[in-house]
Amino acid sequence: MCGIVGYIGNNAVADKLMDGLKNLEYRGYDSAGIALNDNQKIEVFKAQGKLANLKAVLLQNNISQNPSHIGIGHIRWATHGAPTVENAHPHISNDGNLVLVHNGIIENYKELREKLEQQGVHFYSQTDTEVAVHLFAEEYKKFGSLEAAVRSGLACLKGAFAFCIMHHNEQDKMIAVRKNAPLIIGCNQNENYIASDITALLGKVKKVIYLDDNEMAVVKKDSVIVKDIFGNIVLKKSEEINMKADLIDKQGYEHFMLKEIAEQPIIIRKILQKHVQNNKIILNEDKLNIDWKKVKDITFVACGTSLHAAMVAQKVWENWLNIPVRVEAASEFIYQKNLLNENSLVIGISQSGETADTITALKQAQNLNTQILVVTNRLDSTIVRYAQSVIGLDAGVEISVAATKSYLAQLITFYWVGLYVAQEQNLLSQDEIVSLLESFEKIPEQIEEILSHKSQIEEIAKQIKNYPSAIFISRAFNLPTAYEGALKLKEISYINANAYPAGELKHGPIALLDENMPVIALLEQDETYAKLISNCEEAKARHAFLIGIGGEKLSNIFDAFIKTPKTLSCFSPLLMCVPVQLLAYYTAKALNREIDQPRNLAKSVTVE
Ligand code: F6R
Repeated sequence: MCGIVGYIGNNAVADKLMDGLKNLEYRGYDSAGIALNDNQKIEVFKAQGKLANLKAVLLQNNISQNPSHIGIGHIRWATHGAPTVENAHPHISNDGNLVLVHNGIIENYKELREKLEQQGVHFYSQTDTEVAVHLFAEEYKKFGSLEAAVRSGLACLKGAFAFCIMHHNEQDKMIAVRKNAPLIIGCNQNENYIASDITALLGKVKKVIYLDDNEMAVVKKDSVIVKDIFGNIVLKKSEEINMKADLIDKQGYEHFMLKEIAEQPIIIRKILQKHVQNNKIILNEDKLNIDWKKVKDITFVACGTSLHAAMVAQKVWENWLNIPVRVEAASEFIYQKNLLNENSLVIGISQSGETADTITALKQAQNLNTQILVVTNRLDSTIVRYAQSVIGLDAGVEISVAATKSYLAQLITFYWVGLYVAQEQNLLSQDEIVSLLESFEKIPEQIEEILSHKSQIEEIAKQIKNYPSAIFISRAFNLPTAYEGALKLKEISYINANAYPAGELKHGPIALLDENMPVIALLEQDETYAKLISNCEEAKARHAFLIGIGGEKLSNIFDAFIKTPKTLSCFSPLLMCVPVQLLAYYTAKALNREIDQPRNLAKSVTVE
C-alpha cells in the first residue's frame, strides 16, 4: 500500500527519496510524488503511475541540480479519490508553506473538510489526506510552530495515520507522527530518515527507532527527539537493523515471485532445523506463552493467503489436537458476534503484520479476554503489539505482492507448533510423532523435486493462458490449496479462477463446464481419491480441459498431469501448493503481466 520516505541531511535529497521509494514499490501503488523544502519555496513533483513517470517529471525539472537538503516522498495506493496527479501525495497548504505525506485513513475527513471550506480553505483533491495539511496549516497560523501546530491539529483527527510533515519556515526539521500505521526513523551521522517500512532504509542506515502509536518525532539532521502527543519527551532506544540490503535484489531471477518460490526449500529446511531435533519438536528461541490447559477452542483470523494457511491448520490441528478450530476472515470476524472468552485462543496470521482487518480482529479478541497468538513474517510490525505470544515466520522479506514463501512458512509453522502442542500435551504418542516427523523432514527435498519439473508446468500454463476462467477442485487437506491456487491465478494473471470442494461441483458450478473451462484437480491418494476421480470424470464428460495434480496418474482422463512426490495426506498441502504457485506464475508470464506488482493489489492492506 502507500509508502513514506523522508530525508534530512547533506546529500542530494531527490535521489535519496527516489531510492527509498524504489525499495517500497513492492507494496503496490498507483501514483507517486516528492516535495523538496529548498531555499526559495517548497516544490512538489508528482506523477500518476509508476516511479519511472515521476523520474521523468524530475528530469524535466532538472531536479538533480536542486540544492535541497530536506524532502519527503510518497507512493500512493488509491483509497479516497482516483489515482490522479491531484490526489497523489505530497499535499500542500494553500499558502504553499506546509507539506505532508500520509499513510492511513482519516475517518472524519468529510466533517473537517466542510469546516475548513467554510473558513475559506480551497481544496484541490478528493483525498482524505488533504484535510490534514490544511488543518495543520490553520493551526500554524495560531501557533507559529510546526510542532505545536501538528500537536494541536492531531486532536481533531480520527482514524489511522502516519505523517511526515515539513514547513517552509522550519527547514531544519521534519515531523513524523504515528497512530495505527507504522513509521520508523532511520539514524545516521549527520542525516536522518523517516520511513513507513524498514525496507526503504536497507543499505542506508544501520539503526532505526520504531515510533509507537501517538508518538511524534522531531527529526533534524543531527538529532531525533520523540515526544508523546502532549509534548512530553519519550526516551527511545535505536535498534540495529538485522535485514540485509540484498534481500530486495532479484539475484538473477526474472521476477521476485519466482525467486521466492525457489527459496521455499531453503526456508523450510531452516525452520525444520530450528524446531526438529532428535525426533522431538523443540521451541528453540521461540516462546509459546499460551496456557494450553485452558484452551477449549481456537479461532484463526486472517485475510487472503494467510486465511488459506489457517484453513490448512484447522484441518491438521483438529486431527492432532482434538479441539474445535474455527477459521474466520478477519473482515467478517470484526462485524459478527464472537462467542469467545478466556478459554479461547485466537490466532492472528499476517505475513506483513500490518493488515488492518486482522489487527482490528485481534483488538476485539483482547476485549473478549481471549489468549492471543500472532504468527507473522514481520516481528517489527504493528500486529505484534496485540499478541500475548508471537511466532516469527523466518521467511525473509517477501517482495512479490503475491504471497508464496510466506504461505509455505505459515504452513510449516502450523505443523511444527501443532506437533509441539500434541507432544507436550500428550495428544499424540511418541511413535506417532516419530512417524509424522519422518515424512515432515522429507518435505524440502520433495519440493526441490517439484521445482525441478517447472518447465513441464510452464508448458501447461501456456495452455491455461488461453482460457478466460478456470476452476480448481479438491477435497479434505487440499481444499485450502485449491482456494490458494485460484487466488494466485486470478491475482497475477487476471484470469477469473474459482475453487470449490469437488463434491460441490455438481451442486451448481458444473453449469459452467464446457470445452472453454479448465478444471484443475488436486488429488490426494487417500479416502477422498475415488470420489475426486468421479468428480474429474464429471468434468471430463462436459469436455473441460482437465489438469490433475497429485501422486500417481492412476487415471487416463487427464489432459495434463503434474506429479507430486508421495507424502502423508496431512502434509500434502506443503507439496501441492508449489505446482499451483508455478502454474499461476507461468500463466501470468505467458500473458506478459506485471507479476510482482499486479494491478490494484498492495502488499500490506492497511485499511479495513
Ligand atoms: C495473496 C496476498 C494477499 C494477502 C492478504 C493478507 O497473494 O498477498 O491475499 O495474503 O492481503 O496479507 P497479510 O498476510 O500480510 O495479512
